[in-house]
Amino acid sequence: MKIARKNPPISPFTKGGTEQGQGNLSAMSGVIVSTKQQLLIHLKEGKGIWVSGEFLARKMAISRTAVWKHIRTLREEGYVIESSQKKGYLLRQSSDLLLENEIREGLNTSVFGKRGIHYFRQTDSTNNRAKLFASEGAPEGTLVVAEEQTRGRGRRGRQWFSPPGEGIYTSIILRPSISPNEAPKLTLMASVAVAESLLAMTSLAITIKWPNDVLINGRKIAGILTEISTEMDRIDYVVIGVGINVNTPRKSLPSDIEDTATSVFMETGKPFPRIALLRAYLEWLEIYYEIFRTKGFEPVMKRWKSLSGIIGRHISVDLIDRVRTGEVLDVDKDGFLILRGQDGTIERIISGDVTLLHKRGSNTNDN
Ligand code: BTN
Repeated sequence: MKIARKNPPISPFTKGGTEQGQGNLSAMSGVIVSTKQQLLIHLKEGKGIWVSGEFLARKMAISRTAVWKHIRTLREEGYVIESSQKKGYLLRQSSDLLLENEIREGLNTSVFGKRGIHYFRQTDSTNNRAKLFASEGAPEGTLVVAEEQTRGRGRRGRQWFSPPGEGIYTSIILRPSISPNEAPKLTLMASVAVAESLLAMTSLAITIKWPNDVLINGRKIAGILTEISTEMDRIDYVVIGVGINVNTPRKSLPSDIEDTATSVFMETGKPFPRIALLRAYLEWLEIYYEIFRTKGFEPVMKRWKSLSGIIGRHISVDLIDRVRTGEVLDVDKDGFLILRGQDGTIERIISGDVTLLHKRGSNTNDN
């Protein structure tokens, strides 16, 4: 499917909510940017060139000591900044922390990530935080990101391994005008967006396993946890939580997932910029959400099917109270799995854990 990319105007000077202390605020071009952000913008404008402390102090109308203090804070945030008595400051490398200003820089969306980004060095679960913000009225497109989750949650009450700085742990608030029983469609939509972003940024062979696992070579690289709050028969809000293993080394995986999980780093042997991947995910998610809202679920489903190798496969699916084995005939227009059981009966399944089988009864390792 060819999807046209929008080109909304991009400005690093956009205002938004944040959990970070940003220091004093000052006005620039009618919008508000903290002094530290202004300093960073000047360093980035320098593009590998030394910028004198005197110039920076004058530009921002602060003392050279204040400049130095902000430089120290930026270094603590992971920016590699060289300093020299004679030459001033040189930005060698931007931070790979999932900081609000880094996410926003070059983010090609209209709404997602543009209506408040809540950043946490550590939190229990970004989904928990997002639900709280949503219940307090946070608008659609509000984003929660964390460097680390202490109680990252997966489907079916499982834990989501969320070590600091290695993965992307993010949740977004949506307020779609759909009925609650359509919510599973949003999970499939998010898995397509994650897959598209990984495909666009890496040369890895990405597939999707119903309903929401994103895999490389049969190992799970990302998962999605969608949670909804309803009022009568309408949705109040949806939180889509996404976890992507980016720079996780194999040795840090807990033993229960060491044979089934992977990361971009494990697949390529190279560290990968999490910020760029997060931006790509937000951009693809907004594209597919727009398609879903304006053209319906069918085009999203079409792309999901082309990314998933599941149709025609023999699987077993764990439905908590029982396990069904059979052949996948289709994933229908609502995102339900259509399974022909071994006894020939056809069942429509809303959710479960799928294991792909080579042939009846024998496991493959691609699950
Ligand atoms: C799964 O495959 O079981 C779903 C995993 C979802 C993990 C993400 S990480 C960000 C968000 N916060 C959570 O606590 N869970 C989701």
